[in-house]
Amino acid sequence: MENQGQDGTKNKGKFIAFEGIDGSGKSTQVQLLAERLKENHIDCYATMEPTHAPIGAFLREILMGKRKADPRVTAALFAADRLDHLLNEEDGIAAKVAAGATVITDRYYFSSYAYHSGDMPMEWVIGLNEQSREVLRPTVTVFIDINADTAMERILKNRDHQELFEKKSKLAEVRMNYFEAFDKLKDTEEIIIVDGNGSPKEIAEEIWEAVKIYWME
Ligand code: ADP
Ligand code: TYD
Repeated sequence: MENQGQDGTKNKGKFIAFEGIDGSGKSTQVQLLAERLKENHIDCYATMEPTHAPIGAFLREILMGKRKADPRVTAALFAADRLDHLLNEEDGIAAKVAAGATVITDRYYFSSYAYHSGDMPMEWVIGLNEQSREVLRPTVTVFIDINADTAMERILKNRDHQELFEKKSKLAEVRMNYFEAFDKLKDTEEIIIVDGNGSPKEIAEEIWEAVKIYWME
């Protein structure tokens, strides 16, 4: 399969971002897509935000309530964690994609637009993340859609603790914010919305059918 970038540049890698509210099945689908790509002899690197680097670790403490931070500071830290995820010298993903690798991330800048625009205007959050958008725009963003009731059921069943944003009303608001952001940026972003209520296998199949064209161009 020929490897061609969104801008038509040969040998530029693919960058796939998974999005959805907490518990929507993102990490399950990242793994299933990574397996499918390997079966097709396409090397890929799976990653996530918040990252496991120092800024990401600090953010997890805020999410778990171990540290308090103003919502503007939290949003700015997520933007900083994202730039580090892209640009750090050791394993920054921008260089990997530029070198032709496929990178799949569990969350990227649409998470910021959706989770922080309750506290600040969405335009402010988009502006805060402008550098990430300039450095690396996803080949495609895959949004796994479930409602807040289903998300809460899954979270309560599978976790022994609840994080900052894991409240039903917040998740319902975040889901609506995602749709607002997709509508706002539909002319410049490639977005696929999949129903997250099926079995993991069914969802993986639907995602594969939608994304496999990016390696076949
Ligand atoms: P996220 O990364 O979006 O928080 P996960 O992939 O961790 O979501 O899934 C959240 C929980 O729901 C996990 O316990 C997972 O096993 C379960 N799960 C994932 N996909 C599905 C699905 N399609 N149907 C039912 N449960 C699912
Ligand atoms: P994550 O570990 O992906 O949670 P989950 O697996 O439940 O989806 O993300 C942790 C939390 O961080 C999640 O509630 C969403 C939030 N978040 C933001 O608020 N802003 C961001 O920019 C990102 C990437 C995540």
